[in-house]
Amino acid sequence: MRKIRLGRSDLDVSRIGYGCMLIGGTWDNEPIHTTVYQKGETIIRTALDLGINFFDHADIYCYGKSEKVFSHVLKTSPHLRPNIMIQSKCGIVLGEIDRYDFSYEHIIASAEGSLKRLGIDYLDVFLLHRPDPLVEPEEVAKAFRDLKEKGKVRWFGVSNHTPGQIELLQKYLTDPIITNQIEFNPIHTDLIDQGVNFNYESSLSDKNLDAIEYCRMKDITLQAWSPLAQGRLSGRVDLESGAKIAACSIVVKEMAEEKGVKPEAIILAWILRHPAKIQPIPGVTNTVRLVAACEADSIELTRDEWYQIYIAGRGESIP
Ligand SMILES: NC(=O)c1ccc[n+]([C@@H]2O[C@H](COP(=O)([O-])OP(=O)(O)OC[C@H]3O[C@@H](n4cnc5c(N)ncnc54)[C@H](OP(=O)(O)O)[C@@H]3O)[C@@H](O)[C@H]2O)c1
Repeated sequence: MRKIRLGRSDLDVSRIGYGCMLIGGTWDNEPIHTTVYQKGETIIRTALDLGINFFDHADIYCYGKSEKVFSHVLKTSPHLRPNIMIQSKCGIVLGEIDRYDFSYEHIIASAEGSLKRLGIDYLDVFLLHRPDPLVEPEEVAKAFRDLKEKGKVRWFGVSNHTPGQIELLQKYLTDPIITNQIEFNPIHTDLIDQGVNFNYESSLSDKNLDAIEYCRMKDITLQAWSPLAQGRLSGRVDLESGAKIAACSIVVKEMAEEKGVKPEAIILAWILRHPAKIQPIPGVTNTVRLVAACEADSIELTRDEWYQIYIAGRGESIP
């Protein structure tokens, strides 16, 4: 697996990461069943065998159980820790009413909770999960500084943030924001569409232009969550779909057949083809699907192929 440098950090990460959101089994506080530990270990070891060295978590995933399942693998193979990079996130509070919290106390408590559940001393990367409208950037900066000084976090980033929100934070942070994790796949292309549609008919209301260009200018690596569109383009039938998704699936399927790979590989190759060097973070727990997806590392789509998928995913031709 080829590697990329994550933003302005010193981390050389596999160009495809693994998203650990679902390895905890269920989103509740029920005990973790042995079979969940076993399935989690199998998919993590498959990821490692494929050359993945970057693992994405969040404090809330399966109510903390995903981090616990991951810690089980580290316990049985402690030699792994220095050879992999672990990222987690904070800022979403699940409750009767879900909310966001970027307060000093919450950021510190979340990082310490993740470290405890993962059974590790430091996180390589720590992200703010979703923008909190009540953010006090000075408070975030203090929390990040304290976590760094105590050796609990090496690098910081954000997720689902606009350029303006990043700028506001960065004004107060001493360390660079190294990544912005966003939803991106052939049927979720808002960040590209904004640039392509600019100055064209109804697109003038777009307020969040240039998120990709901003990250490229500032050396912030974009990570793509739900990069496989949760299976919508590769044969999953139990999720809501539509004509646009069906048409895009056909383009992906035909391209996969032509190249002798599975659709998952084409979908990730489409993300990897973007010059921003976006790091897809697939979260499939099925090992066959993960192996298929990682074949993307050896595929380079042509400009023509990339546009075929983009236009099919948009459901309309470009201006
Ligand atoms: N920052 C954020 O706000 C945010 C939000 C969501 C996720 N994330 C991160 O991104 C990672 C990936 O997200 P994701 O899990 O939504 O993305 P994904 O990799 O696009 O989708 C994985 C899901 O789709 C299912 N799937 C894929 N292909 C399928 C098929 N052909 N048939 C049936 N099911 C299929 C998988 O099932 P199997 O498990 O059975 O393979 C799994 O449930 C997460 O693990 C997490 O780390 C971040």
